[in-house]
Amino acid sequence: MPARVVLGAQWGDEGKGKAIDQLAPNSQWAVRFQGGNNAGHTIVAGGTTLKMHLLPSGITARDCNLVLGCGMVVDPWVLDRELSEWAELTGESPEGKRLFISERAAVILPFHRLYDSADELVGTTGRGIGPAYRDRTERVGLRFVDIGLILGRDTEIAEISERMNAQLSTVGIEEKIEPEQLKSDLSWIHQRFSEAIRATGPMLDKALARGEQVLLEGAQGAMLDIDQGTYPFVTSSITCRANATHGAGIHPGHIDQCYGITKAYTTRVGNGPFPTELSLEDGPGKQMSVVGHEFGTTTGRPRRTGWLDAVALNESQRLNGYTGLVVTKLDVLGGLEELKICTSYNLDGDEIDHVPSSSEELARCTPVYESHPGFPALDEEEWIEMAEESRKGGGIDSLPSPIRSYLSRIEEITGVPVVSVGVGPDRLASVASAGGPFDVEMSEATF
Ligand code: IMP
Repeated sequence: MPARVVLGAQWGDEGKGKAIDQLAPNSQWAVRFQGGNNAGHTIVAGGTTLKMHLLPSGITARDCNLVLGCGMVVDPWVLDRELSEWAELTGESPEGKRLFISERAAVILPFHRLYDSADELVGTTGRGIGPAYRDRTERVGLRFVDIGLILGRDTEIAEISERMNAQLSTVGIEEKIEPEQLKSDLSWIHQRFSEAIRATGPMLDKALARGEQVLLEGAQGAMLDIDQGTYPFVTSSITCRANATHGAGIHPGHIDQCYGITKAYTTRVGNGPFPTELSLEDGPGKQMSVVGHEFGTTTGRPRRTGWLDAVALNESQRLNGYTGLVVTKLDVLGGLEELKICTSYNLDGDEIDHVPSSSEELARCTPVYESHPGFPALDEEEWIEMAEESRKGGGIDSLPSPIRSYLSRIEEITGVPVVSVGVGPDRLASVASAGGPFDVEMSEATF
């Protein structure tokens, strides 16, 4: 069986967790391949809301094995907390049984968090993600496999803390990393996770050879990709399809399906240009923010909101080659008289159809919009009823005509079929294309 990939098609927070939650019951493995606890997945089922930052969203499917892949940066304290919360809710401790951490994944230490707290440019999540990746690129970082080896080498640990302290002082942070504390941290990580630390690439390779289905879970989104996004206002990993297998330790030939998750509008957290941005104070931008509960899962910061940016969406399609799009939070637009889609930018008087490589140029771009009729606002129950109705065979085709024409336009612009539409936070509030990959049995699950 092949691997399937779920990716954010915008600036993150597109609702990937819900899509993964729907696919995971038919997967034997759910794998995170990049990023760390800068991500945040929210899954709502049966009145329980689960917020997770590190654990793969596939955790909700009890028969699904979970991997924190080699492309990740993992904060062991956050992982410990999430595992405790999961155990409290479900009684299950999956570590070493169905949750495995790649030996090659980079370890986030208190130093990385401290260093990240000095960021003033990007508006990072402050979780130490960039500094941990930087250490890895400089080849001075610790991976999980290194911890057991380094314990007992006190001189090396002292040298590491010296380097950390020198770096902290360059960004004006006075707090120091004491070698004894570093040693005790490393020793705790070693003990706490030794059961779960494995060579996960070969594990996945063997699983694929046995015919098992692997789900690769992206974090953040294409526009936050370090190489292809709106640099420097990006995260520090490759968020795109090309890294999905590499960051899992398997080869790209395994992928057969790649789903791009996009909101029916756009949001962005942190700094950086955002051509279709609207005011959060009134009008459609306020509606997106309030009705869509647009606050960061990780930092609680209000997300910036705007109309759907099809220029950015097409850019992400160029990079990822989606086999299907999942359009989320469509219900949030209910009640707006007019909907807009940005189909090109105006840059200094010229119309362009791509995202400029320079963020300074992108900041000068103004959106060129086309207008679409809106559709009425419904309450949560009514959307769920509509979704249930769609499961009688009609799928997306059973949706009211203004919604269908908005979705058809997205398909036309991107050249990618819409395979699922989110119409509310609940697991049941989804409309799939009939017979498509998201046309799966949907239960009102509890954890
Ligand atoms: P970092 O990933 O913490 O270094 O933050 C870099 C940029 O990516 C900041 O603008 C963050 O707000 C943004 N970012 C990181 N993770 C996410 C996410 O999961 N969703 C949305 N934005 C994110």
